[in-house]
Amino acid sequence: MILHSKSRETVLITGCHGFLGQHVVQTFLEDSKCDLILTGKENRSLFVGISDEPRVRAYHTMDITQRSSVKDVIGSTKPDVIVNCAAFVRVDDAEVNREMAWRTNVSALEHLTEASRKVDARLVHVSSDLVFDGARAPYTETDTPHPINYYGRTKLASENVLKTSGLEYAIFRTCLVYGAAERAKANYALSVAQSLESGQPVYAATDLLSSPTLVDDLALAIVRATERKRAGLYHAGGPEMITRFEFAHRIAETFGLPTSLIIPTTIAELKQSGKWRADRPTRNGLVSLKAQTDLGVRFSKVDDGLRVMERSMRELLGKEDLFVYE
Ligand SMILES: NC(=O)c1ccc[n+]([C@@H]2O[C@H](COP(=O)([O-])OP(=O)(O)OC[C@H]3O[C@@H](n4cnc5c(N)ncnc54)[C@H](OP(=O)(O)O)[C@@H]3O)[C@@H](O)[C@H]2O)c1
Repeated sequence: MILHSKSRETVLITGCHGFLGQHVVQTFLEDSKCDLILTGKENRSLFVGISDEPRVRAYHTMDITQRSSVKDVIGSTKPDVIVNCAAFVRVDDAEVNREMAWRTNVSALEHLTEASRKVDARLVHVSSDLVFDGARAPYTETDTPHPINYYGRTKLASENVLKTSGLEYAIFRTCLVYGAAERAKANYALSVAQSLESGQPVYAATDLLSSPTLVDDLALAIVRATERKRAGLYHAGGPEMITRFEFAHRIAETFGLPTSLIIPTTIAELKQSGKWRADRPTRNGLVSLKAQTDLGVRFSKVDDGLRVMERSMRELLGKEDLFVYE
């Protein structure tokens, strides 16, 4: 007997206009057969031309902190999977805007799990290397988290909401995500390039190690896990642990920008000067072997990833205005 599997799955994406959200949408369209429902805080979809794509079934305004909004949109669209790309991501701001950080990163997960349970949807969620304190990096999925700032605490709490939800879920912990993006907030690599391009100094810590992660690789891991119905915890970070200072240099070299404006500094100095509020682990990095073998994703080395970013930016924006965003 031939069993006919259900036709294409429908994936609802939250925070679709964010940096990762945009890449996840694009990767689902390019590398999967899934239908998509896009959601974001904005009143209308900001994707240009995407409404012509038949696999994008709809755009809905959905603020994940609003329980009724989440319940209505998920209840009416009945997706098979929800991929949560929405979050409160400002690490320093989270120290002072604690209530909003908690509502967005933790309470919203409770709304999403509650709504998912009603329609029997799986959940794919994105967490952070900042659930760790940096004492034993690089970290595997079996290491014990111990966050040292408020943002990290909210991300760990968000994981715990999923773990106790009784739902089928996958969590991707990632780290210092970089890459090209149109009309998204600047990621670290982009802001370094933009500052150097416009003659502004870049203060880069020499005592902060982490593993920069190309957004394209992370998006592919998320899409593959969704398509293959994988569950559990995955680390999804680049293979090299380098300092911010070293990363800034590699960015400058890739984009042909002056390195003389990269000023070495330390975490303590950045905190003293008021540029940073939150504590940061000095050594953070993720071992992503499980994602690599299970999902077949090769996480790019920094120089390779930066070249991909540079090519994508040229395609997106044209050579003349490489760092100009509307
Ligand atoms: N980027 C990194 O280096 C990094 C590292 C580790 C983990 N992560 C994780 O990766 C995920 C994606 O981050 P990202 O870099 O793509 O950040 P991002 O560009 O700021 O994207 C987050 C999106 O969520 C939206 N959002 C915020 N509050 C919302 C709400 N209440 N309802 C609906 N949407 C809301 C934001 O809209 P507004 O911009 O209008 O607020 C934004 O579009 C997050 O879970 C983050 O914690 C990122």
